[in-house]
This record gives sequence, C-alpha cells and structure tokens, in this order.
Amino acid sequence: MNTAHTKPDGISEEEYLELAKKVQNSPWRQSYHIQPVTGLLNDPNGLAWYNGFYHLFYQWFPFGPVHGTKYWYHLRSKDLIFWEDLGIGLAPDQNFDSHGVYSGSSMKKDGLLYLFYTGNHRDDNWVRHSSQCLAVMDEEGRIQKETTPLIPKPPDGITEHFRDPKVWKGENGYLMITGAQKISQTGTALIYQSADLKRWEYRGELSVPWKTKAFMWECPDYFEADGYGILMMCPQGLETEESGNSNIYEAGYLIGNPMNEDTLTFDGNQYEKLDYGFDFYAPQTFLDHLGRRILFGWMGLPEISYPTDRYGWAHCLTIPRELTIADGRIRLNPVKEMELLRSELVCETIFIDEESYRDVRFYGRHYELMVQLIKQNAGIFEISVRQNKQEQTVIRYSSKDQMICVDRSASGEAFAKDYGSLRKAGLKSGLKELRIFSDESSLEIFVNQGEVCFSLRIFPQESGIETVFTAREGSVKAAIQKWNLK
Ligand code: FRU
Repeated sequence: MNTAHTKPDGISEEEYLELAKKVQNSPWRQSYHIQPVTGLLNDPNGLAWYNGFYHLFYQWFPFGPVHGTKYWYHLRSKDLIFWEDLGIGLAPDQNFDSHGVYSGSSMKKDGLLYLFYTGNHRDDNWVRHSSQCLAVMDEEGRIQKETTPLIPKPPDGITEHFRDPKVWKGENGYLMITGAQKISQTGTALIYQSADLKRWEYRGELSVPWKTKAFMWECPDYFEADGYGILMMCPQGLETEESGNSNIYEAGYLIGNPMNEDTLTFDGNQYEKLDYGFDFYAPQTFLDHLGRRILFGWMGLPEISYPTDRYGWAHCLTIPRELTIADGRIRLNPVKEMELLRSELVCETIFIDEESYRDVRFYGRHYELMVQLIKQNAGIFEISVRQNKQEQTVIRYSSKDQMICVDRSASGEAFAKDYGSLRKAGLKSGLKELRIFSDESSLEIFVNQGEVCFSLRIFPQESGIETVFTAREGSVKAAIQKWNLK
C-alpha cells in the first residue's frame, strides 16, 4: 500500500501503516462506497465539477474513529463512481485552523476552484474561535491557503458556533450562507455577500417563518431548482414532534419561493426530512456540467459509536444521488452512473400469496435490487434482506396506513440502541417500487422513485446474504431485478 500522499504529519510511516493495516483487516469494509483509509470520515465538502473531473473532499480525522482535528481528504472522478485517491487536500496547519479544517464548499472562478471552509481554533483556555477561510486550487491540482481568514469572527449576537460556508452565485454577486447559533442559544443561518469571492460583507440573518427550538443549524445549503428556493440544513435539537423520529440529529429542508436577496427573507415554512433512515447527516449538493443537482451525504451521525470503531475507522458517504423536485418536494434517486457498477443480472416475476419466497439467485451482499409491484393487495408486504438464521433487516409495507418501515432490530451487531430500531415514512399513494442498494455494511432504500429514502448502516455477519419476500393478508405480484455490483 502506498500511503505517501495520504500520511498526515505527526506520525511515522510505520505507525501510519500499522493504522491502515488494522483498518484493512476490518470486517464491514464497504465495496463501492467512499470510506476513510484510516480514522473517521464525516461531512462531504467542496463538491464540484472542475477541470474535467468531479472533485469531492470529506472531513477526515486520520488517527482514529473520533472527532479529532479535522482535515479535508481529496478524491476526484470522471463518473462519480470510480474515484482517484488524491490524499490530503487541506491540513490543519495554520493558527486559525489549528483545531480543524471544518466543513465548507467550493466555487469556480477564472479557471480556479475556490474552497471555502471554517477554521476551527481553540485558545489556551480551550475556548473555540471560528472563522471562514479560503484556499484556492488551480488546474494542476495545487491547493494554496490564504494566510488570513476571510471572515475572522462571528458577527455580534452570534456565538462561536459559526461554521460550514456554502457559496453560490446570487443576482448581485456571490452569496455565502453559514450555520450559526445566536447568543440566545437558537440556531440560524447568516448571509454574506462578495463581488470577488475574497472580500465579504455581512448582510444579516436569513429570515424564515419556520419556528424551531433547534439550538444550532449545521451545514446549510441554499439553491434554487424548478422555480423553488430550497434551504437544506441540519437543525440540532429538534423536538420530537417536529422531527417525528428519533435520530440524535437529522438533515432536512424548507422549500418555498426563491429567497429575496434584498431583504434576506425566505418563505419556506414546511420542514421535511431529507432521508428517513438511521444514518444520514450533513448532505451537500452541487450543480454538475450536465445541469444535474447532485447530493452526497454522510452515512453516519455525530455523537454515536459504531461497531467499526474497534477496527480503527468509522463511516462512509452515501452513494451519489440526483436531486429533483416533484409535487413541491425533493426527490432523491441514485445517479444514472450507478449502473456502471452492475454486473450479472437476475430477473423474475414473482407471485406470492400468504407465503414467503426465497431464491438463492437473489442472495448476496453487494447488489442492487429493484422490486416493481405489478399487483399489491397484501395487507403486509415484507422484504427481508441480509438474512441468516439469526439476523435480518426488514423492509415492511403496510397497506392499511400506507406506511413503509425499516426494522433494524435484528440487523447484526447492535449500536445506537437509545435511538430505537424502527424508522417509518408515509407514502402518498401506496407502494409501487423499491430500489435497494446493499453494500457490505449499509443499505440505501429508494421508495417510489425517491418519494422517500432510507439510509442506514448495518453490521451483519458475512453469512447474512438471504433475501426473502413475504406477503400476508393477501397477495403480491412483482417484477424483480437484481444486479450484483462490482
Ligand atoms: C457536521 C459538523 C460541521 C463541522 C464538521 C466538523 O457534521 O459538525 O458542522 O464543520 O462537522 O467536522
């Protein structure tokens, strides 16, 4: 293994190889998801199509599965699927980012890619100081940091929880939105404006009608699509009736008319979750050269231990998803390029009536499973995946209340137990299609072409490969396709 370009300072080559070896020997390493070589991965950062490649960075702590001093780790790809590992993109090597090069985004200008990030610094009393910073990448891939922050401190009335700049082109110049916390301990988003991406003027707080008690908004992302304005963010500390599920934190969005850039008002009022699964956070979007809005999320959550921790690594990103709008709501679906991973195909139309159906041809660990319902009059339709004698993850549709739920109670090694083992979502007009991506330790489930999706990590035994379809209180006829994924 050649680690020269990934090795952080402060550790010898031998020690670093030791860490990497431990990770390589871990069970549950993913086969087609972006995951860290060592240590911990969290948010996707700086996403762009630039100079003939997709560029992606992620938050990285190299030395172990904990949220230590963060780096940006860099990858690039021609197709969003096969990634070239470019190693460390940004290291915490300045006083203002000494305790972490935190999350941010990118913007192309004059042939350069501007990388905006949060400098996280702790002083001698361990007090946090946050600034918004810039590094610039050229066409040769050289990345140069500016020596002073663009925005050295939060504006009046805002605490040091001030981070995650996302930049876009507004009507009268560039705009930046950051997550923030007011001194009253409530979350908000701030807007800055610039003509040249270097000098930034504080415009004020974004005004939204949505009322929430969230104490901090992380990773805001504002964009327009289909004539709508969309504000995505991760509001921390939602009350349960607001969030309707029990993940520690979640990612969601408000949708409305495009933001008024003069008054900084946005009328998005109805908060919706982006993903109904157990492990999804800090998503970021970007517009590619084909005009698609593409989203990556972190398939993990803050403040939760995962079973891979004991092998020295944690987390992965989601597969790339294309974001579209239908009926005034976001839909997320795998990008078309996911088809590049497909190998052997098995197809069959099944009819099951008060029974279970299993066939080894639908077994596996790394696959895409497409289930299109031709007729569905069962009270309960269930697909159990990654099953062996003791373990299974169950996707259950109940037609009485048109609810789809994912049951992780017997998925394998348990974790995050305090947050429950069921996640549910209502479907507007019943279940029509399920598309499931299974990797070694994750499932991503797209229901009715992205009406609802569930992302979750699971930690089953290697023998957990069976797929079982069950119809109760009636019958189901479905066309099934399954591709093994490379
Ligand atoms: C979200 C987050 C961001 C921050 C980064 C640090 O997961 O907490 O707000 O910039 O992670 O790694």
